[in-house]
Amino acid sequence: MKFFSQIAFDWRVGFAHFAGVLLLSLSALSCNAQVHAEGPGWLRQDERRSGLSFKSEDLQAQQNDDAINPSFLWVDQGQRMWSEAPQPHAPSCQSCHSDAKTRMKGVALNYPKWDKRSKQLINLESQINACRVNKQGAKALAYESDELLALTSWLTLASRGMTSERRIDQSIAASFDRGQRFYEKRIGQNNLSCAHCHTQHFSDRLGGEVISQGHPQAYPAYRLEWQKMGSLQRRLRACLSGVKAEILPFGSQELMELELYLHFRGQGLALESPGVRR
Ligand code: HEC
Ligand code: HEC
Repeated sequence: MKFFSQIAFDWRVGFAHFAGVLLLSLSALSCNAQVHAEGPGWLRQDERRSGLSFKSEDLQAQQNDDAINPSFLWVDQGQRMWSEAPQPHAPSCQSCHSDAKTRMKGVALNYPKWDKRSKQLINLESQINACRVNKQGAKALAYESDELLALTSWLTLASRGMTSERRIDQSIAASFDRGQRFYEKRIGQNNLSCAHCHTQHFSDRLGGEVISQGHPQAYPAYRLEWQKMGSLQRRLRACLSGVKAEILPFGSQELMELELYLHFRGQGLALESPGVRR
C-alpha cells in the first residue's frame, strides 16, 4: 500500500509542476506522453521489454522465422486480397494505394487515431473497413474474420521493426486519459487492474505462463491456444475474461482507448507483428 501511495504522491507533484509549466507555455496543447502518463501502470522507457523476450526459445524461433511462422498464412491471404477486387468492377486496394510495402510503411504506427468524420477513435481494422465500405462498395469485414485479420496483418507487416514517434496531441488526449484510468482501475471479480499484472508483476508466473509487460506490438498474432491469428482486442478480451470482468465488445471505444494507452506505454519498442504466442 505504501508503494502505491508513494507513486500517487510523486505523480501529483509531477502534475502540479506540469500545470505550472502549462500556464507559462503556449505550446502546451501538444505535450509529451511522459508528462501525462506517469502513474501506477506506466513503465519508464528504459524498463520496457518486448513481449517476445518473455517467451520460450521455441516460440521465439517460430516468430523470428517467416518460413515457419504460422501467421504468414494470414499475411499471404492479405497480400492476395490487397490486389484483388472484392467484387466485379470494384477497385482493389492496390489500384488506389499501389505497393503496400512502401506506401503503407509506418501507417500501422499511427493507430488508434482520432477520426474527424465519425468523431471517434478508430484503429487500423476500422480504417480498412472504412475503405471497404466507402471506396470499394463492399461489405464491412467482421472482427476476427480471417479476411480482416489477413488485411490487418498484411498492412502491419509493412511497419515491422519500426518504432512509433507519435505524441499525445489534443485530438487524442482525452481518449488517452480514459485508457490510462481503465488500465489502472481494479476490475472484475478478481479485483485486479491491468497494472497489477503487467507493471507490478511482470516476470512472475501465472498458470504456466510468464506474465509479460503486456505490450501490443506483436498483434495481430498467431496464438496456439486459438489455433489461429487474433487481434489485439481479442487478447485484451482474454485478459478481461481472466479477471472475470465485463468483456467489452469488439470495436468499443473502451477497447480503442485501452489500445491507445498501450501504444504509448510501449513506445520505443519495435513493432514485431506477426507475433506467435502460446
Ligand atoms: C477508391 C480508392 C481507394 C480504395 C479502393 C481503397 N482505399 Fe484506402 N484510402 C483511400 C483514400 C482516399 C484514403 C485517405 C483517407 C480517406 O479518404 O478515407 C485511404 C486511406 C487508407 C488507409 C489509411 C492510410 C493512413 O495514412 O492512415 C488505409 C490503411 C487504407 N486506406 C487501406 C485500404 C485497404 C486495406 C483497402 C482495400 C480493402 C483500401 N484502402 C481501398 C482510397 C482508397
Ligand atoms: C491476472 C493477471 C493479468 C491481468 C490483471 C491482465 N493480464 Fe494481460 N496477460 C496476462 C497473461 C498471463 C498474459 C499472457 C502472457 C503474456 O504475454 O503476458 C497476458 C497478455 C497480455 C497481452 C499480450 C502481450 C503479448 O506480448 O502477447 C496484453 C497486450 C495484455 N495482456 C494487456 C492487458 C490489459 C490491457 C489488461 C487490463 C484490462 C490486462 N492485460 C490484465 C495476465 C494478466
